[in-house]
Amino acid sequence: MCGIVGYTGHEQACPIIIDGLKKLEYRGYDSAGVALVTSRGIKVRKKAGRIANLEESIRGERMEGTTGIGHTRWATHGSPNDLNAHPHMSMGGQIAIVHNGIIENYAELREELKKDYGIEFISDTDSEVIAQLIGVLYEGKLEDAVYEAVSRMRGAYTFAAVAADEPEKMVAYRKDTPLIAGIGRDCNFIASDMTALLKYSSDIYLIENDEMVVCTPDKIQIFNKDRKRMDRQVLKVTWSMEDAEKGGYQHFMLKEINEQPRVVKETLERRLNADGKIHLDGIELTAEDLSKFTKIYIVACGTAYHAGLVGKYAIEKFARIPVEVDIASEFRYRDPFVDENTLFIAISQSGETLDTLMSLREAKSKGARVLSVVNVVGSSVARESDDVFYTWAGPEIAVASTKAYTTQLICMYLLALYMGTLRGTITEEYCDTIIGELRQMPDKIQQILDGSHKIESIAKLLYNRNSIFFIGRGVDSAVAYEGSLKLKEISYINSSAIAAGELKHGTIALMEPDTTVIALATQDRLFEKMYSNIEEVRARHAHILSVVKEGNKMIRKVSTDVIYIPACADEVTPILTIIPLQLFAYYVARERGENIDKPRNLAKSVTVE
Ligand code: G6P
Repeated sequence: MCGIVGYTGHEQACPIIIDGLKKLEYRGYDSAGVALVTSRGIKVRKKAGRIANLEESIRGERMEGTTGIGHTRWATHGSPNDLNAHPHMSMGGQIAIVHNGIIENYAELREELKKDYGIEFISDTDSEVIAQLIGVLYEGKLEDAVYEAVSRMRGAYTFAAVAADEPEKMVAYRKDTPLIAGIGRDCNFIASDMTALLKYSSDIYLIENDEMVVCTPDKIQIFNKDRKRMDRQVLKVTWSMEDAEKGGYQHFMLKEINEQPRVVKETLERRLNADGKIHLDGIELTAEDLSKFTKIYIVACGTAYHAGLVGKYAIEKFARIPVEVDIASEFRYRDPFVDENTLFIAISQSGETLDTLMSLREAKSKGARVLSVVNVVGSSVARESDDVFYTWAGPEIAVASTKAYTTQLICMYLLALYMGTLRGTITEEYCDTIIGELRQMPDKIQQILDGSHKIESIAKLLYNRNSIFFIGRGVDSAVAYEGSLKLKEISYINSSAIAAGELKHGTIALMEPDTTVIALATQDRLFEKMYSNIEEVRARHAHILSVVKEGNKMIRKVSTDVIYIPACADEVTPILTIIPLQLFAYYVARERGENIDKPRNLAKSVTVE
């Protein structure tokens, strides 16, 4: 959610920290701040709004200090204003902290600190409690005070702290939300996300849960919660800095949409042998395992959940095993039927979404086998899974997910095909045919991208609509949910998706002249049924934008506008159908002048409940 960056070395820390924060701004962006340890104590500057506001507020000021911590916030406790922005300081200014997560017992601790130590709180945040608590416990060694403070806190939290009396030291503690340490030349870093450090370090340590990391310019030490020194292997980061920059595009979202041919290819090729057969190297999934599974759960949030809906379709079709797809925040609290005969599949771009992670733990504790589809190597979901099927999307910066979704679809198709061949529910020939179809996807996605001007002009016509519905049948309905989510996330147009056959049971009441309906009608098998549903809304004079496979002439009779996707097998259409919908959402939002990469109230990685 929030982003944390820390630096300790011999250069001025402030520009390095601000640069890192900018890379993390996509994680949370309602306020930002920095704390520097100077020879005259700790200097904190913080500001509501974007990092640009913070930069503006310190322009011309001497921001000296070679050790410091910074933060970009997504508000949970306390509204986003200057006072609630991080860093927070202890009374007297001895300690400064930045925090990501929630301190559940903050109200209790706050009262205690007020009563026992006369602490005066100046913000409405739970986070200030950490600074004040460490402040009263501090006796000259930051690590000791942090350990003591942590033993009194409850919740999911990760924080970094500096002390005025220890100017070359940063201490950070990880509890449930991500933390890494980066090795630099004569300097070291901490961050909540590797994107912040790509410019400075490609050698990182992943900090595990309940571990403390202590950084000075010349060393990084990791300790567990019993203060035992931990050995850790260095992880080489393969993402480049260019991957995390806009590369000439106006927005990250557009760049990421355009990267899809490449990343889809990469995700696919990494799992195909030279003879075109799927391999799951590193993932143990035998015919015996599969015969044991009586049920598969796919659990995820947001866009990843929508990829799960397509995954259900693919697994049930190819491997003939019943699949239930669940929203992680629901799965966790409904005492699901999970046992040793369950395969639990978590899908997550970041691998840090708290509800997904907690669902995974719940399933694991009940004996399920856990496989995850994840983009970020070394993330919590990846580390806690029995097996990981990585998407090779590279860093996804725009809050609205695009390339992560299409690569998640590729993984789900490959997994489903693999299971189907192992179980003998599909023939090798059929499997080869679908793989052949998948292999054509990069080129076909490119064809759609090359024709994006048409979608742009439709968006220019429709950008000021008040509400837009998405309808579809079969696997098109799964894509309708994702298309609708894209649109509402970045354009703020009221949008909902519905299985087309369900229209007449309620939603059709909302149809009136000029209502806009985006009808996905790519399934040959269901086309006639879908055609009737389109007729139903047309009879209410709705404006209909249809998405169909090329060659379909009939659709013109019932549509105001048509977008064609290249011909392909019904089974794999979602990989193509979503592309025009992503572009449509993008162009509509651009036409409306919205902040596309950082939509209001949203965050890229949701590490709170
Ligand atoms: C947030 C993001 C969405 C994303 C969802 C799940 O809500 O804004 O774009 O789909 O989290 O994230 P994950 O990292 O688990 O895929």
